[in-house]
Amino acid sequence: MIIRNINLETVCGITSKLPENDKPEIAFAGKSNVGKSSLINALMNRKSYARISATPGKTQTINFYNINEEMYLVDLPGYGYAKVSEKEKIQWGKLIEKYLHTSKQLRAVFLLIDIRHEPSANDKMMYQWIVDQGYNPIIIATKLDKIKRSQVQKHVKMIKEGLQLVPGTTVIPFSSETKQGRDEIWDLVEREFLN
Ligand code: GTP
Ligand code: MG
Repeated sequence: MIIRNINLETVCGITSKLPENDKPEIAFAGKSNVGKSSLINALMNRKSYARISATPGKTQTINFYNINEEMYLVDLPGYGYAKVSEKEKIQWGKLIEKYLHTSKQLRAVFLLIDIRHEPSANDKMMYQWIVDQGYNPIIIATKLDKIKRSQVQKHVKMIKEGLQLVPGTTVIPFSSETKQGRDEIWDLVEREFLN
């Protein structure tokens, strides 16, 4: 994808109305701090257009990034952030669920998992939840630069087994530091979801 222009077009909080877009949407889910906003920046060729932070819980809204007036990259709020109240967690869950359930343009959901760690109970729940909403999530194994090259296959296997992925599910290792995996993600999006 050649990025000609980007625009953070819609920001939805827990009380906002979701937009009724008429272009394809690709959404990114994953626990807080896993690297969703960093991945979106890498896809947009920007350093910090999507706000990123070492403190978990940075993105607390659903953010719709319009790409070339052609499609949207959708940054979902991260789950598993301890400092959020129970009530807020439930409201977020409901908002994400409503989005996954009602968006007419959502073509694919990517679930981000830190390549270093076994998927958590929350990761497993999120995976199952996305599957239950009728999507077959693509897995991005983030922070690839944090492990040795010789360990990559082992960690990918750990993620596949931990999430009990539907056979044939795509897992793409990715690093926002080196941008490894970026082109593969765009190729997949353009090939499978933009026509
Ligand atoms: P929330 O908005 O809180 O849900 O987090 P997020 O998933 O959007 O994570 P974000 O992109 O803000 O990144 C969290 C932290 O991880 C930041 O300090 C990033 O610099 C770092 N980070 C993200 N991706 C990578 C990566 O591929 N490699 C390394 N080394 N660090 C990364
Ligand atoms: Mg974020």
